[in-house]
Amino acid sequence: MKETMIKAAFSAGKILKKYYGRKLNIKDKAGKGLVSQADKEAENKILSILLRKFNFNVIAEESDYPDNNSEYCWVIDPIDGTTNYLHQIPFFCISIALYKDDKPEAAVIYQPLSKELFYAEHGKGVCINGKKLGKLNTNTPAIIDCNLGYSDESARLFLEALNGILPQYHNIRNLGSSALELAYLAASRLDCFLSYGDELYDVAAGILMAQESGCLVTNWEGIPWNIKDKSLLVAPPELHGKIRKIFVSDF
Ligand code: IPD
Ligand code: CA
Ligand code: CA
Repeated sequence: MKETMIKAAFSAGKILKKYYGRKLNIKDKAGKGLVSQADKEAENKILSILLRKFNFNVIAEESDYPDNNSEYCWVIDPIDGTTNYLHQIPFFCISIALYKDDKPEAAVIYQPLSKELFYAEHGKGVCINGKKLGKLNTNTPAIIDCNLGYSDESARLFLEALNGILPQYHNIRNLGSSALELAYLAASRLDCFLSYGDELYDVAAGILMAQESGCLVTNWEGIPWNIKDKSLLVAPPELHGKIRKIFVSDF
């Protein structure tokens, strides 16, 4: 399974590198981001590799698949961070997750330009390029990643939340790839991730990375995250509590 997932990510990575910096046909998906032929070709490649061996259900950003009643489901985002990709901002990734009964079992996040591959398996921690990550480092000043999304509703909610957060935490980012940002939390490169309105394929793989690293993964009410949640708050336990307090007093 692991080998097949990594093979699919590497194959898609070749496609992303082939098109990177080239003039592409781009379509605006009306409030749901952008798509190009790189996204579509990469997704087809990933699915052909995965489904040849493991014919599970599929949730993928760029295509619809019928339910085949499997308890397992592939959750795929062929390019998470398409806007960055199309602007030649090298912060994007391929995101592949395996869910069983709506819970993450295994995940790969691959950044083909930096050649970093994150792999996580339920109960087994997170590796970068085969090297197991250590404990979360909570000693540096926290960087809060606020993933603003595309809707008016998420913009409004974030502006309210930032009123509370900004005076206390100076380092705020919105890097443009939810999957890679969550993988960065697992590696203690970022400290807190807040999003509203992301789709399952945006966060499916990153959530397992964050959980396996020891982060708390909840919705904005503080309830453990489930696949139907729109809001997401992820951080090491102590910081999670502090950020939640700001939310509770604000909402
Ligand atoms: C987007 C990224 C971004 C998030 C958007 C997503 P895409 O995915 O994850 O970080 O803010 O909500 O749609 O369109 O690049 O696959
Ligand atoms: Ca995408
Ligand atoms: Ca995405």
